[in-house]
This record gives sequence, structure tokens and C-alpha cells, in this order.
Amino acid sequence: MKVRTRLLISFGVVVLVPLLVFGLGIRMEMARRVTGEYQRRVDALVAVINADLARETDRVAARLAALRSSLRDDNAFRAGVRGGDSGYVLDYATNAMRLAGLNFLQIQDDEGRVVSSGHFRNEFGRLGPAVPSGGPALVRAATAEGPFLVLVTSDSVSIPRKPFRLVGGVAIDSSFLQRLARDPELGVALRLPHDSAAPDSGMLVVGELTLPYVDAVDGPGTVEQAHLVVTRSSALLTALQRNVNLWFAVAVLVAALAALLLASWLSTRISTPIEARIAIGDLARQVNHDLKNGLAPLRNVFRHLTQVARDKPDELPQVFTERQGTVESSIDYLETLAANYAKLSPQSERKATDVNAVVRETIGGGGASSVKAKLADGLPVVTIDALVLRRVIENLVSNAVDSLEGKNGTVMITTERGHGLVRIAVSDTGRGMTKGELDRAFDDFYTTKEGGTGLGLSIVRRLVIDSHGSLNVETEPGKGSRFVVELPAQ
Ligand SMILES: Nc1ncnc2c1ncn2[C@@H]1O[C@H](COP(=O)(O)OP(=O)(O)O)[C@@H](O)[C@H]1O
Ligand SMILES: [Mg+2]
Repeated sequence: MKVRTRLLISFGVVVLVPLLVFGLGIRMEMARRVTGEYQRRVDALVAVINADLARETDRVAARLAALRSSLRDDNAFRAGVRGGDSGYVLDYATNAMRLAGLNFLQIQDDEGRVVSSGHFRNEFGRLGPAVPSGGPALVRAATAEGPFLVLVTSDSVSIPRKPFRLVGGVAIDSSFLQRLARDPELGVALRLPHDSAAPDSGMLVVGELTLPYVDAVDGPGTVEQAHLVVTRSSALLTALQRNVNLWFAVAVLVAALAALLLASWLSTRISTPIEARIAIGDLARQVNHDLKNGLAPLRNVFRHLTQVARDKPDELPQVFTERQGTVESSIDYLETLAANYAKLSPQSERKATDVNAVVRETIGGGGASSVKAKLADGLPVVTIDALVLRRVIENLVSNAVDSLEGKNGTVMITTERGHGLVRIAVSDTGRGMTKGELDRAFDDFYTTKEGGTGLGLSIVRRLVIDSHGSLNVETEPGKGSRFVVELPAQ
């Protein structure tokens, strides 16, 4: 693992883990605070609603008390209930209800039968709602137009020898509920028994209070429980959480970026000496390798000349003239290499180069008889330093020759024109490579040869890529290999 990766991982752990813990903590704390804050508001609202209901009930009770005293003094009513003017009794509650500002008013006899109904004249003689006496209750009552909900309270009055019950109330509608919910972020809703309507999923029930409830639409009904619930929308908390998530993601990103930068910066400081040492070792091997490649043709020529001098001394001047070019170009190659290494970086001038000329120079007029060339005419020039190209071809050819392992076979260099490029192929009929060998062939220091450096192909690849070219290999174990270099034509 690289120093940088290791640093990055440790920074990641050191920075991101606390940040994550912090972020999650903030989220939880925020949810807790928001919920707590809501609960305080909800509790306050429940108290206010209770007070409102009590005030409303007191108001109705006061009206009923006033009604009670006026009924006691009403002779016409007394006469009416004793069998006198029944029309007066029937209409009594209608007028009284209007004057008292109520929405519901019943006068019931001692059996609970309606003798006068303010909101629904037709109720006469029916049993009124079975509301508990005193205190508020919710009643679903019938009218000519249909049922409606009322908050009622009751009172009793005794008109000589006959007890009557007064039940009065105000309508509970959506505007009444809205008035109860003063907090714009809270809602108040009524849940009646047998209410199957599911609550809105975005609304959370945060508080509730109960009231006795009587459904008196068909008959007196029984006392059940109705709930006034306080709801809040979960939208605010969700939106807040989304915001926190967003900022949290930004913080993680910034921290990760900072860790990345810090890791790269520190890794260059820490690892430069190590990497520099590697680079120097690399360079030494490369020098050794390049020198060997440059010396090989010279040794061949020298061996050839020695042999000629011994066996056919009179041919020596002629052979010398023949091989002079190879010697000179090898010396040139070594000189340029030396000059380049002197500058400590291989200089590559990107100038126009004739590929065929470099190939001819490299194989040096048939020093190694197994190397053949088939060079296409009229090739365009390529933009690559001639020395670089020579190093590429040298390496590929020497590998190809090595692959023959001293047995019979051929090494062939071909050049041809492609689409906007020049293709140089070095093929051999040598040992070839397995898939596994090919995978490793371009690795630094991978070699299967005794005394090999394992640097040739990695140098070739780097040089080709630096020249904006491409390199491809086809190979088959036991059959041979073909290395194809494509360079952009100028
Ligand atoms: N033409 C080829 N035929 C078969 N094997 C090859 C050929 N060229 C390269 N290889 C394999 O790739 C390895 C690496 O080659 P290279 O990087 O030039 O290093 P070296 O020649 O010093 O071993 C060789 O040792 C050899 O196993
Ligand atoms: Mg090699």
C-alpha cells in the first residue's frame, strides 16, 4: 500500500469518525429539542382549549340560568304544559334559543321527553339526548337539515309540581375548532367514537382531551367518549432534518477533501527520499541495460573482424568498410545516451524521424542473420526522437532474438503505413508467452532470463506512450510473438 493511501485511510478514520459521531449527535439533539419545544406548546394549547371549553360551557350555563328564571315566571308556559296553549310551549324554545344566542335548546319533561325544541320543532315527544347532568358534553343532534354537533350543558327547573330539564348548547364546527387552535403550526381535530377516517399521515397527534359524547340522532343514545386531538405537521421537523443532513454531507465532503490534500502533501514530504532512492536504482539499471544494448553490435562487429583477420586477412579492409556504418551508429548511439544521462533525464526531442532509416540503423546491415526486415516505401515521418525510437526497436528486437533461445527461427521487422500512423511490428517465431507471462512482461524487473534486467519492455512502453503512440502484443506459447508499435504520422 502506498504511503499516501495509508495516510488517507488514517486521516479518514481520524477525521470522519468523530465527524460522523458529531453529526449524528446533532441530529438526535435537534430532533429532541424540536420535539420538546413542540410538547411545551402542545401542553399550553391543551390547557388553553380546556379553559376555552369551560368558558364556553359557563356561557351556555349562564344563558340556561337566565332562561330558568324567566320560565318560572312564565304563566303562559305553565298553563301550556298543563294542557293549555300547546303552540306556545312548542314555540317557546325557538324564541328563547334565538334570544340567548344558542344553537341548541331543548326543554324536557321529567321522563326526558322533549316538550319544546329550539333547533328542531319535530322533536316534540321524543326522548332527548342522554347527556349527564351538569358539565359539558358533545351531542350529535338531529335538525331538519341533518345532524350537527353541539357542545351542551344542562340545567333543571321546577315549575310547580313539575320538574323540567333545560339542555342548551353551541354548535361545534370547523371554524370553532380553528378558533381553538391558536398556534399556526398546530391543528385541533375531533375524533368521534366509530370514526374510521384514518388521521392524515403527515400529522402527528401530540396531545388530546376527552369529552362525554352522545349520538342523539336516532333516540336518546348512550354516553361515549369523544377526543379532541392536537396535531402537528411533521413537515417542519422533516425539513429541518433534511437541512442538517445536507450540511452534514457538505461537512463530510470538505473534511474528506482536506484529508486528501493533507495526505498527499504529507506523503510527498515523507516519501520523497524513499521514492528518490527507488528512482536512482531504476536509473542505474536503465543505464546498464542501455549500455548493454549499445555494446552488443560493437561486440558482434569486433568478433566478426577478429575472425576475418585470422581466417581471411586480405578481406579485412573490405569487411571493415562494410561494418563501419554499424560501428559508427553504435558509437553515436552510446554517445547520445551518455550525453542524455549526463543531463540526468533522457532528452527526447520531438522531431520528424524516418522510421525505416532507424530500423536499418538498428539491425546494422545484417549483423544478426536471423533478423529480417520488410520496410514499406514512402512512409510518412513520425514525431519521435530517433534515439527513442532506436531504443524501442533495440529492445523489441533483442527480446525477439532471445525468444528463439538459440534455435532456428526468424525475427522480422516490418513497417507499414496505417491510418494517420506508422506501424512497426517486430515478430518472432520464438517461445511465445503464456497469458500469465504476458501479464507480467511489462512489469519492472520481471525477467525469465538469466542476467536479464526485466526493464526492457517497461522502458519500451513508457517511451511509446510518451511519444503518443500505442503498443500491442500478440503471442502464443511455442509459436512466437508479435509486438506492434503504432506512432502518429506527422
Ligand atoms: N518476444 C518475446 N518472446 C517471448 N517472451 C518475451 C518476448 N519479449 C519479452 N518476453 C518476456 O518478457 C520478459 C521481460 O522482458 P524485458 O522487459 O525486455 O526484460 P528482459 O529482456 O531483461 O528479460 C522476458 O524476460 C521474457 O520472458
Ligand atoms: Mg529485454
